[in-house]
Amino acid sequence: MVMKRYQVGFNNISAMLLLRRCHNLTRFGPLNTQRHLVAPAVTSCTVRLWSSGSSEDHRSYQRAHGPRWRHALAGLLAGTGAVLAYGLYHNKAEQADTVRVQPIEKTSALPIFTQEEVTSHRSLEDGVWVTYKGGVYDITEFVAMHPGGDKILLAAGGDLEPFWALYAVHNQEHVLEILSEYKVGELSAEDLKKQQTIESSDPYSSDPKRHPVLHINSLKPFNAEPPPEILGDSYITPSAIFFKRNHLPVPQVDPASYKLHVDGLPGESLTLSLEELKTRFPKHTITATLQCAGNRRSEMNKVKQVKGLNWGIAAISNATWSGAKLRDVLLAAGYRPDDAQWARHVQFEGLDKDVTGTTYGASIPLNKAISEEGDVLLAYEMNGEDLPADHGYPVRVVVPGTVGARNVKWLGKIIVSADESSSHWQQNDYKGFSPGTDWDTVDFKSAPAIQELPIQSAITTPADGAMVNRSNEEVTVKGYAWSGGGREVVRVDVSVDGGKTWQVAELKSSEKGQEPEPSPSPGRAWAWKLWEVTAPLPAEAQELEIVCKAVDNSYNMQPDTVSPIWNLRGVLSNAWHRVKVKIREDESEE
Ligand code: MTE
Repeated sequence: MVMKRYQVGFNNISAMLLLRRCHNLTRFGPLNTQRHLVAPAVTSCTVRLWSSGSSEDHRSYQRAHGPRWRHALAGLLAGTGAVLAYGLYHNKAEQADTVRVQPIEKTSALPIFTQEEVTSHRSLEDGVWVTYKGGVYDITEFVAMHPGGDKILLAAGGDLEPFWALYAVHNQEHVLEILSEYKVGELSAEDLKKQQTIESSDPYSSDPKRHPVLHINSLKPFNAEPPPEILGDSYITPSAIFFKRNHLPVPQVDPASYKLHVDGLPGESLTLSLEELKTRFPKHTITATLQCAGNRRSEMNKVKQVKGLNWGIAAISNATWSGAKLRDVLLAAGYRPDDAQWARHVQFEGLDKDVTGTTYGASIPLNKAISEEGDVLLAYEMNGEDLPADHGYPVRVVVPGTVGARNVKWLGKIIVSADESSSHWQQNDYKGFSPGTDWDTVDFKSAPAIQELPIQSAITTPADGAMVNRSNEEVTVKGYAWSGGGREVVRVDVSVDGGKTWQVAELKSSEKGQEPEPSPSPGRAWAWKLWEVTAPLPAEAQELEIVCKAVDNSYNMQPDTVSPIWNLRGVLSNAWHRVKVKIREDESEE
């Protein structure tokens, strides 16, 4: 199951189309008939693509299409996690999910089936039939090609729509194009009417309202980042514009019946209500930056395509978080120092679920969870208010200094364990690889799960492509800098000539006009620093290449270019950040 889930690195839709085309090239008989004859055609196509056969025909095909096809097929053969993976990689495609899908036209020549007949086809042996907007489709052969693996079988014998609603990637014309080729009939008018009265529920319909300023990377699940210039304006990011990274629909959690379970330790497991979490344990507040592993992925994409949401530089934000210390709760659950002899990890399970009931999950090392200085919180407040729905209401874990992915939202369960979380996101995602590793060679077991993130900085203003007036004589550059693991940013260097000469920026750790926050104790610098520098405009230059790079107190520095750190998932993107701005000569001087 776990192995099946790692395939996130390909465009599933292209893959479907590619295979579809191959399928069409080789299929026998007219479309929508004699489906049983098609299987060998698909097989032959697949075999041809995978085999190391030596015919020239095959070699030239491989030269022309090999890598694309291998990715396509890797995708097609991916298992159940691939549907979830949609949410991880498709970027532009997902933005298209506002496109309204038109119903597939009815073809009167096709036979009419009752719902009962459709329902009798719900296995590979009996055939897999589904309905969609009144059409009946025999998708038996497609099951093996479905990028989401056998999750498609959940819809067998019934209507596809509620399942498709969970993954908006399906709401695209080419997906319907694929489906239309499997049409075998029409659902009887009576059954169609019955079906229409059963409300097809959109699992995202109860997602919260979001701030319109956010740049949306995907709507369902919701993933969005603030415009950089707004992000860089506040030391504490307002919750409404704090980047949002959801893999699944936002769960509706009733605070009155909410329960947090703590398992894995010898003896009785501990269950806490929200009220108990708030009243039985001291409330701690920390200021901590969260950064998604995919922040700045778009820069990796420019070097060579990677798979994942095309984040800009703002999948990072800073907030105050208040809640109980995880350490205190683990001690109340019976944790004793001896437990460190067998326990190595603390796993977290979210309350957000996919269609199979699989929840979001992650884990952190036990020593981070139990350490006094680790400051891991079971947070119920963000920026002084209840956690917003998008950020994990009513409780999330905040693991300061650690990649966003481990900061599990809508926390339902904590498990002390000898093992890491077995979740897809711990085992087969959020890991770094060599630039030389591709989707044919990647072995997710070979790399550790990302925990602490490396040193990072980026320019929030001016924006790439902005204009600066020559008469201003200088340019003010602003940005953020942060390092993982509680390492403090001690310096940010800024260049306006592409890195030939440098100036040191002024670092800020408070809102404008407010007292700086007290210096963090060593190893507990959880919050970013904003920085600013004003540089004179070089006399002759018509364009500036502004560059920033940060240094932390372990003297870790950012790499100067993206290529050497490129990796197939586009994570850990922390090269020097560069923006180009043009100098506008003032009219009077022209
Ligand atoms: N927790 C749950 N339950 N479900 C999720 O999808 N996304 C993770 C993490 N915790 C996620 C989750 C990822 S990948 C990131 S980067 C952070 O939440 C984002 O937190 P935010 O949305 O509050 O910014």
